[in-house]
This record gives sequence, structure tokens and C-alpha cells, in this order.
Amino acid sequence: MALITWSNMFSTTISEQDNQHKKLIDLINQLNDAMQAGKGAAVMGKVLSELVNYTVFHFSYEEKLMALHKYEDTPAHKLEHSKFVQTAGDFKKKFDSGNAVVSAELMTFLRDWLTGHIMKTDKKLGLALGKLGVK
Ligand SMILES: [Fe+2]
Ligand SMILES: [Fe+2]
Repeated sequence: MALITWSNMFSTTISEQDNQHKKLIDLINQLNDAMQAGKGAAVMGKVLSELVNYTVFHFSYEEKLMALHKYEDTPAHKLEHSKFVQTAGDFKKKFDSGNAVVSAELMTFLRDWLTGHIMKTDKKLGLALGKLGVK
């Protein structure tokens, strides 16, 4: 069963941002499925890398939008992104050196972080951009 299911309550009203969030949810679900299926480190590492790389790409997309539209809450939003990238990067290093495994606790953290960030921080950005006519 999927760990996270997309629904309209996650929509920021910005279609490209929503599409990227759907892709992030899909990658988190893939990681969860791989963990539950007991996949080995090679498969887990591949999905994990994809998730980390896509997250970096997605954050930079949002940060470009913020800069383009002179969004007032840019610093706080970017700080949430950079803290998450730091945490994810630290985990990836531990995983790559064999000192961490993908656990149910990690999956809960990823689910809660992403859904919390979308619902609060990304929706706030979407609302501000929507007022400027961005779709
Ligand atoms: Fe986002
Ligand atoms: Fe964000």
C-alpha cells in the first residue's frame, strides 16, 4: 500500500509544482515499497539517490520561482529546504558507508516532512503566486 496518496488537499494551485510533488510522493512510495519487499542495498541506494537528486531539483525550481516573483517569505522557506537537504545528505552518507538502513522510522519522517512542508510552506507560496496570476 502506498505510504502517501496524492489528493487535492495537497494542491498549491501551481500545476508544475503539484506535478513535481506527485513525483516526490511517487519516489517516497517506491522507497517504502522497496523497503517492505526487503530489497538489497543496491536497489535501495538507487531509489534513495533518485529521491535525493529529485528533491534538490525540486527545491531549486521553487527557489527560482520565489526569486522571480520576489516572494517575501523566501528566507524562511529556503531554510526549511536547506535543513532537509542537510538531513537527507547526512543519511545518504551513512547509508552509503553501510552505517544506516532505510527503516519505517525514516519513512515516517519523510512522509511527515513532505506532507507538512507542502501543506504549510508550499501552499503559502502557492497562494502568493496565485495572487500574482501564476498557475
Ligand atoms: Fe515543494
Ligand atoms: Fe518548498
